[in-house]
Amino acid sequence: MSTRKKLHVGMSLAPTWLSGEGWRRLDSNVEGIYASNFYVDIARRAEAAKLDFVFRPDSLFLDIAAIETGPGFGSLDPTLLLVAIARETRHIGLLTTVSTTFNPPFMVARQLQSLNWLSQGRAGWNIVTALDGHENFGLAAMPSGEERYRRAAEFTGIVRRLWASYPHEALRLEREGGRYADSSRVRPIDHAGADFSVKGPLNLPSYGDRPIPLFQAGASETGRDFAAGIADAIFASTSDQEAALELRTDLRKRAESQGRRAEAIRVLPGLSLYLAASRKQARDLFVETHVRADDGRKFKTIAAMTGLDLSHWPRDRRVTAADLPAVPPPVRSRTHAELLIRLIRNEAPTVAGLLVSPEASGSAHWRVIGTVEDAVEAITAWAGAGAIDGFVALPGGSVEAMHLTLEGVVPRLAEAGLFRSDYRGATFADHLADND
Ligand SMILES: Cc1cc2nc3c(=O)[nH]c(=O)nc-3n(C[C@H](O)[C@H](O)[C@H](O)COP(=O)(O)O)c2cc1C
Repeated sequence: MSTRKKLHVGMSLAPTWLSGEGWRRLDSNVEGIYASNFYVDIARRAEAAKLDFVFRPDSLFLDIAAIETGPGFGSLDPTLLLVAIARETRHIGLLTTVSTTFNPPFMVARQLQSLNWLSQGRAGWNIVTALDGHENFGLAAMPSGEERYRRAAEFTGIVRRLWASYPHEALRLEREGGRYADSSRVRPIDHAGADFSVKGPLNLPSYGDRPIPLFQAGASETGRDFAAGIADAIFASTSDQEAALELRTDLRKRAESQGRRAEAIRVLPGLSLYLAASRKQARDLFVETHVRADDGRKFKTIAAMTGLDLSHWPRDRRVTAADLPAVPPPVRSRTHAELLIRLIRNEAPTVAGLLVSPEASGSAHWRVIGTVEDAVEAITAWAGAGAIDGFVALPGGSVEAMHLTLEGVVPRLAEAGLFRSDYRGATFADHLADND
């Protein structure tokens, strides 16, 4: 399976290049991370490169220990931030992250449709079932993965029906006749389900007739089925080409078996880009960024995901499939746990090797450490193999890596015919549909 179609590219506003020691660099502008200008600058650069979207992940809890050494994921509300960016950009899609585990669907439907109006059709929703934070919402424990996905399916159905409950066509705005809207086109949804009761309709009309794009991030069996049924794209964590190809092939099949076209679901892996002028500088950047990485925390992550406590093992001992417990422990993200288990099964790494793998930090993203050319080569290879429909750029280590991504890598992909050289549509849905 190969593809000559154009890629879809998003830029993280996380900002990943401040992780590890990145925020300590003099030019990091870390003082700005709770102000809109910091993000407007990135969004404008991303728009100049004609990216499909900027993307803000989110969580609803704070890891207190982690903020001792870096900003972590404590952050501005992503939807509010994207409203500020909407005012300063014209074309780029605005992908927010909202959890279906902790919010009421009516509020979410309204916020997303509000972002859609305020950006003139550029809102997108990354649907997450969340990894943590139950204590902040009166829950005794985090609901299981199955429960979270069941709720997510009902939640998403309600949100979509609310968006359709007051369609754009209902607006008449007939000054002469005095008719503002055709109320017969506006209907309650009268939903009564396992987790929610929502009468509707939504109290604002939908913007235009292009749907708000939906993304999803979990890739367990249930996550894949959910994404294949409703999502326009999956934000994937795939550390190697084979894993991306397997995921893309599988999702396309699942989409077809649910009555959708295979192309309806796109696979966009996170791509961690440690970029510099030379390979040596890029490697130094990576090492400097992770110099204080905390092994104790990694041992805990490995134990939580596999059930294996390796903290007393010699660093040169290999971890093999035979060491894995027969019954895996319950985990919050099957996607991340399976990536780690896959690494152990396929490579039997040493304990030391495991500690430096991205899988052991719970972030098994595709990674390039090198020059702009190295990144272009890797992306071209994955695209040629039919493993991806695009990627979400997660620059690492320095502000320069972010600039090299947007001003080096993306223009070269456009020169090679793998990416658009200008926008052809006005909405986020238009950008996702534009790939030839
Ligand atoms: C690549 C990736 C990114 C994710 N990003 C977020 C996020 O920003 N916020 C969040 O609350 N959960 C996030 N999640 C968690 C998922 O929504 C989901 O709750 C979790 O992965 C469990 O589902 P699974 O068992 O299918 O992996 C992410 C998961 C993956 C794999």
